[in-house]
Amino acid sequence: MSDDGIDVTELLAAIDAGERLLLLDVRNERDFAAWRIGGRREPDALNVPYFRFLEEADAIVPRLPRGVPLVTVCAHGGSSALVSALLREHGIVARNLVGGMAAYGAHLSPVRVPTPVAERRFEIWQVQRVARGCLSYVVVSGGAAVVVDPSRHVERYEAFVAARNARIELVIDTHVHADHVSGGATLAARNRAAYFVGVADGWPIGGAVAALPAGGSFWLRRDDAPPLELRMIATPGHTPEGHAVLVAGRWLLSGDTLLVDGVGRPDLGAHALEWGRDLYRTITQRLAWLPDETVVLPAHTAAPPDVGAHDVIATSLGEVRGLPELTLPSADTFARAIAALVGPAPEAYAQIVVRNRDPEPIPPELADEWELGPNQCAARPGAAAAPETR
Ligand SMILES: [Fe+2]
Repeated sequence: MSDDGIDVTELLAAIDAGERLLLLDVRNERDFAAWRIGGRREPDALNVPYFRFLEEADAIVPRLPRGVPLVTVCAHGGSSALVSALLREHGIVARNLVGGMAAYGAHLSPVRVPTPVAERRFEIWQVQRVARGCLSYVVVSGGAAVVVDPSRHVERYEAFVAARNARIELVIDTHVHADHVSGGATLAARNRAAYFVGVADGWPIGGAVAALPAGGSFWLRRDDAPPLELRMIATPGHTPEGHAVLVAGRWLLSGDTLLVDGVGRPDLGAHALEWGRDLYRTITQRLAWLPDETVVLPAHTAAPPDVGAHDVIATSLGEVRGLPELTLPSADTFARAIAALVGPAPEAYAQIVVRNRDPEPIPPELADEWELGPNQCAARPGAAAAPETR
């Protein structure tokens, strides 16, 4: 990092610590309105498009606040670096966000999920993609690792697992994601690992997909560690092919079936009521045998501002069961209530689903465009009235 640069990790730490700073975002007004940087709180931000700096620098610079450090931001960190340099020439304290919004969007922050001492034979890591509210997982046991719902930044998972002296043996997508380009198939191929994603009737997947083992569980076995059970539970609803992963009988990687304060929207396949009824049955019947203490670890967080760099995003099954929608008396009333909560899905979601069903490489710029802004995977109170456009 150059003297005038600040990377995403440092910036998010400063925001989370409540340090005074002002983001000077030089993207155009539309992009700024659609997606801004946030951590545990939303920092002060000012939007002055780059072309205005070029045309009116002499008028703009004297009006910028002094006494608070500025961090300049743009899409990829190029034009904002020029603005940052210009400001320093005028005696203003300014640093440039290295890599810009693209780096922010790709930033992954691993957080260890607490497990009791008796369970320390394995580790569960929640990998938070802070900018989008996407949550993936790495489970490590005795030198073997499984990665669940990885983003397309596959080299980050590889480095993380290698640093834990483990090898990726299995990659799982809990379902065909609509909000982000999956790294699942690519990560599996690069590491000669098995890749699992559910297959529903009429919804084929391109490429090799591991079959569900007899008995319904994958087992991580390596070295002398006791085998670790990953029990696959079919969870139709958010999507028909979805599966939750129950780790060691207690930690439920719930995909988008259960979120911390809501459920995954069942409308993304244009079968909102049918899939909504399935979702109700999944939660109230297929998962009914699991105890309330089961730890729910979702694939997305429904409230991106709550995503911090340090805390695990989790809840208990008992808490989720208390959601008002889940106390409705029938699958039909639930499906209608959920359908009323969701707003229109982003247009790119249909294209992302097509790509994730047939996971060919795509240009990173296209993936950046598709993944603009926080995820909109949740159906929860307020979701329709206040779309997540942080
Ligand atoms: Fe999803």
